Amino acid sequence: MSAVLAEASVPKSVTAPQQVALVLLGTGVVGGAFLKLLCTPVAKRLHLVGAANSRKQQTEAAQLAARDLRERLKREGATRDDVALLSALDAHHATLKVVVDATASTELASRHADWLARGYHVVTANKSLAGGHLSGWRALQAARAAGGRYGDSATVGAGLPVLSTLRRLCDCGDSLLTLEGVFSGSLSYLFNQYDGSRPFSELLREARRLGYTEPDPRADLSGEDVARKLLILARNAGFALGSDEVVVESLVPESLRDISTETFLERLEELDGPLAALHDTARARGQVLRFLARLNQRGRARVGITEVPVTHPAARLYGTDNQFALTTTRYHTQPLVIQGPGAGPEVTAQALLGDILALG
Ligand SMILES: NC(=O)c1ccc[n+]([C@@H]2O[C@H](COP(=O)([O-])OP(=O)(O)OC[C@H]3O[C@@H](n4cnc5c(N)ncnc54)[C@H](OP(=O)(O)O)[C@@H]3O)[C@@H](O)[C@H]2O)c1
Repeated sequence: MSAVLAEASVPKSVTAPQQVALVLLGTGVVGGAFLKLLCTPVAKRLHLVGAANSRKQQTEAAQLAARDLRERLKREGATRDDVALLSALDAHHATLKVVVDATASTELASRHADWLARGYHVVTANKSLAGGHLSGWRALQAARAAGGRYGDSATVGAGLPVLSTLRRLCDCGDSLLTLEGVFSGSLSYLFNQYDGSRPFSELLREARRLGYTEPDPRADLSGEDVARKLLILARNAGFALGSDEVVVESLVPESLRDISTETFLERLEELDGPLAALHDTARARGQVLRFLARLNQRGRARVGITEVPVTHPAARLYGTDNQFALTTTRYHTQPLVIQGPGAGPEVTAQALLGDILALG
């Protein structure tokens, strides 16, 4: 092929990827893994111009480039102030300006829609807005309709391609009929292991030691986090559910709810009796226990412990796997099933990175 022809075959409309300026809110487990990804070659067009934990923040280039930025932020830096972080974004020459939320702060999440309206993009692992009150979800939809881009892959399934698949189906005119699955890595681990041979409390202590649960495991056992994920999926599929419309069956008995984390951890054995009884009943019927999230065709949403046959897809999960079974108008004979590791800092941080790179 001649040089002239080869040149002519290159499409003229190909544009170079855009430079991206970003601020990172949250330098914990996920934020820390994200900072590591920023040092890899795939992130070379991303420019960190600010980073913050709950008390301190940094916008100085030399400090932001320090390998021990997370540790430094624990000791030094300016006092938290969103205005200064957004000013750092404004001052940068990059065409794309992104706020990355790697916190679980409801207060920060309540600002996402405002940031979008002001022209920033938001990429988040924080479920509190999309999985919170319906008014917040509606404000988010309005900001998106006005052009704001919201990267939310990390909010469900720690980056498994669940939300993107669901939205793609809906964009093609498909409709979600029912949704069922295991949406929590820690609860998946606990019930995949729980066969009656060891007390539930022992497994829970082990899961906590391995870092699979929150420091206070009631955050997992309450089912609230699973409920938020179910709300996010249902809302993205067009079910305008209020947060009070999800029936959540907590694994934490009333008597263990209003006590300190320390006392709760000392009294874990109180979980054993009721769970052993449920397990024995299930086993007598040839079933196993799983913590399932379910949305039915009438938009009824429920999160809680459920008996399932040993042949059920959720009975065949490993480790901290998540599973999402989507029955739709077009996937109606067998559901479309998405399954895989649904927790972990590296995959969650990768989901954040993927959403940023997809901006342009
Ligand atoms: N861990 C996972 O595998 C995983 C998977 C999927 C999604 N997620 C989601 O990712 C988010 C982060 O999880 P994580 O495990 O990284 O939590 P984490 O280790 O507790 O870290 C949370 C971070 O947020 C910071 N923070 C809290 N309020 C803030 C504020 N107002 N401004 C700036 N920073 C603030 C905390 O600051 P301090 O250090 O000062 O407390 C901390 O650095 C959560 O929404 C979680 O549900 C986590």
